[in-house]
Amino acid sequence: MPLAFITGGGVGLGAETARLAQAQGWEVALFDLSRARAEPVLAELPAARFFEGDVTREETVTAALDALGAVPDLLVNNAGIVTFKPLLETSTEDFAKVIAVNLTGAFTVARLVAERMIARGSGSIVNITSTGGIATSPGTHAYAGAKRGLAAMTELMAQEWGPLGLRINAVAPGMIHGGMSTTVYDDNAVVERRRMGVPSRRLGTEHDIAEAVMWLASDAASYVNGHELVVDGGVTKATMSMIPR
Ligand SMILES: NC(=O)c1ccc[n+]([C@@H]2O[C@H](COP(=O)([O-])OP(=O)(O)OC[C@H]3O[C@@H](n4cnc5c(N)ncnc54)[C@H](O)[C@@H]3O)[C@@H](O)[C@H]2O)c1
Repeated sequence: MPLAFITGGGVGLGAETARLAQAQGWEVALFDLSRARAEPVLAELPAARFFEGDVTREETVTAALDALGAVPDLLVNNAGIVTFKPLLETSTEDFAKVIAVNLTGAFTVARLVAERMIARGSGSIVNITSTGGIATSPGTHAYAGAKRGLAAMTELMAQEWGPLGLRINAVAPGMIHGGMSTTVYDDNAVVERRRMGVPSRRLGTEHDIAEAVMWLASDAASYVNGHELVVDGGVTKATMSMIPR
């Protein structure tokens, strides 16, 4: 049974990816800050393993990978945070924290897992970026740079690790009604305004993202390497349709 290691897998997009992976016959290991927050998905997936840790603390990632006892076939590099402040009110600490989790942490986990995959000669990594790294949005300070940086890292990882047997891709979710954005959509007027801006005329779901991740991890995508797959109903490229004529 192939093994998927999912960071930030306790809730949101990571937990949905865990559900789909298990349904597709994968063994699932979740790595997240708090076991308590992950209890609902762990109750649904009794066979899933859970490792408490922090992607910004390398020793906790190493401990989890050592305890796993097997090399993952898939890393879903999904742990992420977003905080909102205008640039002039963003402290260096605010900025550094977002970079530490979304970019440096993702790099650390990828490197530690890749070392093990390379020793075996195979493996797939899917980094979770964001359309927020492609089309920037005021108030998100370091998030856009972190996600654009992770997209660049995806290309670099493919160039350096592709020849060693690995595939490294990214999924960039758009406006997802779920995970860290759930509360944005408490207001139905926001749901409706945003929905009408999306060419597919709906918001995305956690499941839309899980499907894209698991497709990239599958043999069907065996010749896809270094690619950022945008899963956004078409909205990121629809800027001109929003400009009045
Ligand atoms: N939900 C969206 O609208 C959306 C859109 C674009 C991109 N994304 C990206 O998708 C990924 C998952 O987001 P989500 O919406 O499921 O968010 P979420 O807040 O629901 O889940 C994120 C998970 O990451 C974990 N996490 C945070 N910091 C961590 C750390 N230092 N170490 C280990 N785990 C940590 C959290 O505990 C949580 O379980 C993130 O990378 C996010 O940037 C989400």
